Amino acid sequence: MLLDISWRLARPALFRLDAEEAHHGVISALARHPAAACALARQAVGPLPAAPVALGPLTLGNRVGLAAGLDKDGLALPVWEALGFGAIEVGTVTPRPQPGNPAPRLHRLAAEGGLINRMGFNNAGVQALAARLGGWRDAGLWPRVPVGANIGRNKSTPNEAAADDYVACVGPLRGLVNWFTVNVSSPNTPALRALLAPGPLARLLDAVVAAAGGVPVLLKLSPDLDDAALAAVVEVAVQAGCAGLVATNTTVSRPGDTGRLGAEGGLSGRPLWPLARRRILTVLEATDGRVPVVGVGGVDSPGRAAELIGMGCTAVQLYSGLIFEGPGLPGRIVRGLSLLEGRR
Ligand code: FNR
Repeated sequence: MLLDISWRLARPALFRLDAEEAHHGVISALARHPAAACALARQAVGPLPAAPVALGPLTLGNRVGLAAGLDKDGLALPVWEALGFGAIEVGTVTPRPQPGNPAPRLHRLAAEGGLINRMGFNNAGVQALAARLGGWRDAGLWPRVPVGANIGRNKSTPNEAAADDYVACVGPLRGLVNWFTVNVSSPNTPALRALLAPGPLARLLDAVVAAAGGVPVLLKLSPDLDDAALAAVVEVAVQAGCAGLVATNTTVSRPGDTGRLGAEGGLSGRPLWPLARRRILTVLEATDGRVPVVGVGGVDSPGRAAELIGMGCTAVQLYSGLIFEGPGLPGRIVRGLSLLEGRR
């Protein structure tokens, strides 16, 4: 409640800033004072019901996870658990650091609760991420909930050599993270989504699963694949031994009036919900219970999270909802889901 009121007061000022500046401002403030930020967040969120859930071999703290891209370099890792998230995905990380696309590259659609981004995997590289995560662990600030690393390839690496990049991300992180998510579904790295074709995907996943040495590997899917292509991808992922699927990433489609800015990149948030929901249903049907599915795309309320769980998702993740609904959202969803489960 306190968190929601503070958010309503802070949001107009933050939304007057450029979207990426606001993002960096908040993340670097959290990163500078992590212990204080965690203490404040815990107090503001209040006690949450214990709600552990199995996702394949992993035990999540609850069904609500932080989606990839918000804390690519693990700068504020402990804060996400303090806000109530039951799992945290950092990255996308690439083997070598890279600046990403030129700014402006992040746009708000405030009226609809949507974001359009073409960040292009801006990140400090896998060695820096491993050092940062090791630092959290050594400082005793490692979260008690699972942490996953979302991995990708550098922009300059051709698809023929992509598997080497994904494998290069696994080595330095294998002893630190609880799972890997293979990202071949971002629209902002040229030709990346071509790796979703069954042949290249099978080769890539075989290499990553072997390198991961028993650490679970999840695959993140694009909402821009049609039902038949998604079903084919699911089959490849299951055969390769993936421990789960994350559906979905952002879309290059522009439902309603969301194309009015003329901005390129991936659309997320509330306007993604109808498409993501449809694609998640397709993925659930294609997996038919063989591997768990994490539903992502436009989750901005306990109702939407409950809808995805009711459809058969094991957990949900969110990013844009945190921007528009504020830091009280994960705790509110955890409480809402717990009430619903108590009634069943
Ligand atoms: C993302 N997303 C993302 N996904 C991913 O796998 N790797 C990444 O690096 C990023 N980066 C990223 C940056 C920004 C600014 C946004 C808004 C999103 C996608 C994200 O994890 C999620 O799949 C989608 O945003 C849909 O969920 P929401 O935002 O509607 O809850």
